[in-house]
Amino acid sequence: MGIVISIANQKGGVGKTTTAINLASSLANLRNKILLVDLDYQANATSCMGVDRGAVHKSIFDVFKREATFQDILIKSNHRNVDVLPAKTMVEGVEEVIIADSNRDFILHDIIQVIKDNYDYILIDCPPSLGYITTNALVASDGVIIPVQCEFLAMDGLTQLLNTIRTVQNKKKVNKEDLTIYGVLLTMLDKRVTSGFQIVNEIKTYFKEKVFKTIIPRNITCSNATFYGMPVTQFSPRCKSSVSYKKLAKEVVSRREQR
Ligand SMILES: Nc1ncnc2c1ncn2[C@@H]1O[C@H](COP(=O)(O)OP(=O)(O)OP(=O)(O)O)[C@@H](O)[C@H]1O
Ligand SMILES: [Mg+2]
Repeated sequence: MGIVISIANQKGGVGKTTTAINLASSLANLRNKILLVDLDYQANATSCMGVDRGAVHKSIFDVFKREATFQDILIKSNHRNVDVLPAKTMVEGVEEVIIADSNRDFILHDIIQVIKDNYDYILIDCPPSLGYITTNALVASDGVIIPVQCEFLAMDGLTQLLNTIRTVQNKKKVNKEDLTIYGVLLTMLDKRVTSGFQIVNEIKTYFKEKVFKTIIPRNITCSNATFYGMPVTQFSPRCKSSVSYKKLAKEVVSRREQR
């Protein structure tokens, strides 16, 4: 049975997309079948999985608008075992359409339920906001991974995110379903900067065992991989961030076994 995990934090640039694509690639390399759902208008997860954004005519946003079905848009990525529900840039009016939908919080949930068991992991890359799209992602999910950048003001906005998660947990109770914090992931730790370690301690004090043991280091190869539009685990499999993302994938698998 597939498990659905959102990668969410409304704060921009904390490593959501980087985590989504590298976790997708690393879990796929561990022989898991992956569906990556790109919910960000920037469509970076889509392009980083080797999907030509220009060739995407209908996207997940058309599915939200009920102008396409998920079968219409589902594509194979250029990575073995990873399928993608792609996003598209320059799409307007999606939130307004969702608000007007009587099933507004459960649109993605109902779609994912149909395809969930075709995959081992369904990973959802969320946009940097807490609007209806992120709510849909959380409602569709069994767990959420919260990437937190090891930098000043890392805790900023986390209370708001936790409140949203609590609201979604209440919505899901209606279906006797749950949303757990699958893990908090510390990202972009620069070992030369002492304040980074203060953030690590602060986050560990607050989230305790929810924090993944794996910490993703800041690594230039990782941002270069984004520039070339691919997961760093594919671009440079032996660099520090690739090794960390592979470790994270193993931790994700073992947490699932403990559930
Ligand atoms: N470990 C890392 N080391 C160095 N650079 C990184 C690392 N992780 C991510 N980056 C870079 O930081 C930037 C932001 O990362 P990313 O796009 O994954 O964040 P995001 O949370 O998805 O952003 P947004 O909120 O805009 O969707 C990107 O340019 C990415 O290449
Ligand atoms: Mg992103």
